[in-house]
Amino acid sequence: MTSTILVTGGTGFIGSHTTVLLQQAGYRTLVLDNLCNSSANVIDRIAQISGTRPDFIQGDIRDPALLDTLFKNNNIAGIMHFAGLKAVGESTRLPLQYYDNNVNGTVCLLLAAQKAGVKTIVFSSSATVYGDPISLPITEDHPRSATNPYGHTKLVIEDILENLYNAEPGWRIARLRYFNPVGAHPSGLIGEAPQGTPNNLMPYVAQVAAGRRERLQVFGSDYNTPDGTGVRDYIHVMDLAQGHLAALQHCQTKDSTLLSVNLGTGNGFSVLDMVRAFEAASGRAIPYDLVPRRPGDIAACWADTQRAEALIGWKATLGINQMCADAWRWETGQANQATGS
Ligand code: NAD
Ligand code: WQD
Repeated sequence: MTSTILVTGGTGFIGSHTTVLLQQAGYRTLVLDNLCNSSANVIDRIAQISGTRPDFIQGDIRDPALLDTLFKNNNIAGIMHFAGLKAVGESTRLPLQYYDNNVNGTVCLLLAAQKAGVKTIVFSSSATVYGDPISLPITEDHPRSATNPYGHTKLVIEDILENLYNAEPGWRIARLRYFNPVGAHPSGLIGEAPQGTPNNLMPYVAQVAAGRRERLQVFGSDYNTPDGTGVRDYIHVMDLAQGHLAALQHCQTKDSTLLSVNLGTGNGFSVLDMVRAFEAASGRAIPYDLVPRRPGDIAACWADTQRAEALIGWKATLGINQMCADAWRWETGQANQATGS
């Protein structure tokens, strides 16, 4: 039996791009997703891009019987664990759903993996675990804190993974802390597809450029940043996907390891920088209003990328112009589909 990578959340934004790269690198993939925030047609798109169809099971990581069957019937060599809920605002309204889905879901997955003797896992953590940063760029040793239930689920899962690593030799665990993932596959076939009003800046900007929304609200113009708007480390989803491959391959060379690695570019851009870059990529005007700060937002955040380079030999290569061009191609493809053209 060829060895397989189990990709939880593999029809989602980051999981789908990573599945493409896994397949192109010669791995077999088995996608497990309950489709609560994605669509099954993503599997067709992954097949179209990579030339190979991933195996797909619609199901939940909180279903122990299903997990046991998956581990029994497939020669799973490792897990890429993307499945989870990710909306910060929603997590403050629905904390129990977030702890159940993210924390309980991860525990179910780890128990099934443990039973099956699968001990390699790459986990989607987040720069949100750094809270409001006390120093920039943010290194992996920066103190961790959480300001909302979503962020707390990531902290707790990171700790669970560390407890497991300390308790049992042989686990190979990568905790990847993403900064702000944006962009889409250059084919325009897969990308980010938020349901309803986007919470994040770049999907919102794309929808304004496409005329699906009237104006962007820029949350805060009085931050202590060069132009007063919030600064973030935007990373192209293809670079991010490549970082997962590098982390997996690094883990596979070790008998036992626990890593925490930032996946960012090391560069900070403001909201207005991103608006201008998107205007240039799309050729469309993006009207905006400067409005008060969004509660809970931080002024600025960007990654120290040295550990990623030194440890897993990975570095982001794509800049904001590429991120915007690829997001725009995806956005226009979506719009064409919606109108049937
Ligand atoms: P996404 O919502 O597009 O993908 C997550 C996928 O997981 C979805 O397809 C969803 O249907 C699936 N899912 C959710 N709960 C599940 C469950 N219980 N069982 C099976 N499938 C389930 O999100 P994304 O942006 O691709 O994020 C992937 C991971 O990366 C998440 O864990 C997220 O917290 C983390 N992350 C995302 C960002 C970001 O800005 N996108 C930043 C840092 C970390
Ligand atoms: C970026 C900048 C906003 C929307 C969030 C999560 C974080 C991580 C990534 C998962 C900020 C500004 C936004 C808008 C705006 N997710 N903005 N108008 O807040 O850095 O991070 O997503 O782990 O946990 O908190 O990303 O894209 O929401 O915001 O002006 O309509 O854009 O104030 O400065 P954020 P974002």
